[in-house]
Amino acid sequence: MEKPKVVLGVSGGIAAYKACELLRRLTESGHFVRVVPTASALHFVGEATWSALSGQAAVTEVWETVHEVPHVRIGQGADLVVVAPATADLLAKAAHGLADDLLTNTLLTARCPVVFAPAMHTEMWEHPATQENVATLRRRGAVVIEPAVGRLTGVDTGKGRLPDPEEIFEVCRRVLARGVAAPDLVGRHVVISAGGTREPLDPVRFLGNRSSGKQGYALARTAVARGARVTLIAANTALADPAGADVVRVGTAVQLREAVLKAAADADAVVMAAAVADFRPAAYAQGKIKKEEGAAAPTVELVRNPDVLAEISTERAKAGQVVVGFAAETDQVRENGRKKLLRKGCDLLVVNEVGEHKTFGSAENEAVILASDGQETPVPHGPKEALADVVWDLVVPRLA
Ligand code: CTP
Repeated sequence: MEKPKVVLGVSGGIAAYKACELLRRLTESGHFVRVVPTASALHFVGEATWSALSGQAAVTEVWETVHEVPHVRIGQGADLVVVAPATADLLAKAAHGLADDLLTNTLLTARCPVVFAPAMHTEMWEHPATQENVATLRRRGAVVIEPAVGRLTGVDTGKGRLPDPEEIFEVCRRVLARGVAAPDLVGRHVVISAGGTREPLDPVRFLGNRSSGKQGYALARTAVARGARVTLIAANTALADPAGADVVRVGTAVQLREAVLKAAADADAVVMAAAVADFRPAAYAQGKIKKEEGAAAPTVELVRNPDVLAEISTERAKAGQVVVGFAAETDQVRENGRKKLLRKGCDLLVVNEVGEHKTFGSAENEAVILASDGQETPVPHGPKEALADVVWDLVVPRLA
């Protein structure tokens, strides 16, 4: 099979050095990569690095190797163009169709999916000019990844960091897998809860569960690749932040409820993939609970936690909002799933069979997705990302 052809455009920002890592990930995973740096990008990372890492001459100007007509051919032949980092200047040029170097020409001739990973100072990102350019690019079908929040060049922190190259690679992989299918969640805000809540008993102990958060993170990654604005409510996960997702960390069910309700206020879809504890200890011991010699074992009294899925399903924050729940069942999977779908009042319920060695922590999943209109979609055993894409396939036609 022919290697997928990727054009890695690099524009002139300090984060250009991180694009070397992205390049490595792409070539090592079997992609043919052509690097097209802008003249400014070469101030940060030299041509020799791009050529050596990609095994291809890195060209900047349209006036080199003119007989190969590179300003047309490179874009035409690509399966994916990814620009990382994309500066404010590069986004402006792309939005307005300017073509004064090889990268901007390539963007005009490419008919494949295009991913931009912007990186710049917060003020530049938030400027209406940049925001309008980003909106234009998204409207035309490009995937523009929201920058990460964190340390910027110098002493300032804020939104504008290039996400981890590993996570940009994940977006590229997802976008490539979708082929020419246009991003169908553009302009949509989706909220996903992931992981498992922990209910503290005392300063060192909690009641928790085995959820790793992988299914929720897969939902977040696939939604970013389909163009959505993503808020990921993460309960006690130890996974890398997906590129482009706004990650809100929570601990307990009560904290998760608060975060979900806040994010859901303007959301088009809410997917509750988190394993939320149904009960919490009635009392929290300020000091560590000690064992007393000869005394009976203590009894832990529990109280009910709010049911977040049922609450957001009955009181939809926005008309036409699609709500998706997950159900973990150990037996009578379909029957129990149908009952749960009715009880919770959500639109879709992803039912999977769990056990001590099934689903939790694994990269794979198998499920049946039940819809409130009676539709049933079995999803065969496979990667959690494949299941995530089926969830979005079912959410999209139900969106208002
Ligand atoms: N859920 C929730 N709030 C809770 C408990 C669960 O929002 N307090 C959500 C989960 O995120 C999941 C769905 O409800 O999307 C199903 O959770 P599950 O634990 O399978 O169902 P339960 O309602 O706990 O029913 P049971 O314990 O009878 O299986």
